[in-house]
Amino acid sequence: MSRVVVSLFDHSGRFTEPWAAAGYVCYCVDVQHPPGETWQGNVCLVGGDIRRFVPPPGPVAFVAAFPPCTDLSNAGAHLFRVKGIRALAAALNLVGAAADLCHRLGSPYFLENPRGQLRHYWREPDHQFDPCEYAGWLEDPEPEAYTKRTCLWTGHGFIMPDKRPVFPIKGSMVDKVPGSKNRANIRSLTPRGFSAAVFHAHHQALQPV
Ligand SMILES: C[S@@+](CC[C@H](N)C(=O)[O-])C[C@H]1O[C@@H](n2cnc3c(N)ncnc32)[C@H](O)[C@@H]1O
Repeated sequence: MSRVVVSLFDHSGRFTEPWAAAGYVCYCVDVQHPPGETWQGNVCLVGGDIRRFVPPPGPVAFVAAFPPCTDLSNAGAHLFRVKGIRALAAALNLVGAAADLCHRLGSPYFLENPRGQLRHYWREPDHQFDPCEYAGWLEDPEPEAYTKRTCLWTGHGFIMPDKRPVFPIKGSMVDKVPGSKNRANIRSLTPRGFSAAVFHAHHQALQPV
């Protein structure tokens, strides 16, 4: 049974938190991490481009990917013509590289992005959710009681986890456009409720009977 998890485009490490707490070795790959490998307990922050990431040898339990959506999301569509065709091409190239890695690693995976261009250039997503639908997995659901329609492209036996919805008292996060790198990081944080639910579904399925 594999005890390794790979999370691509992961600056916050939020997705891997429950896996790391359960003892899995977690690789979080993101250009914003310090170059090379930085170990924090059983979490390895890999600083660099995901296209150069060499996964550890052996089987992997789960792969997640959160590619940049700025040049793909419907929320930024009014800027597509200003940014030009190369911005779209670069964004699609990163998604393609992540999808290749997900396929190659062979474990259940999801690739996450908001509603946008991927349905035209790739395919329709397999699942969609709002963070508030999983906020009930948290002890304090309030921070994630918001909507931000999120699409998932999944494979290799990915299980869409059970929802524990709360009312979205914080409204929509879609129109809250970032004004700085830090705000962009805050806006793109992986929801902890969804992460907990994914861990619960897959960790259970991985246990020997
Ligand atoms: C949409 S955000 C996802 C953030 C994630 N949900 C989290 O909680 O950290 C996209 C991330 O991709 C990273 N990134 C952009 N281009 C990259 C590349 N070529 N290789 C690795 N990471 C990259 C950015 O630094 C950013 O943290």
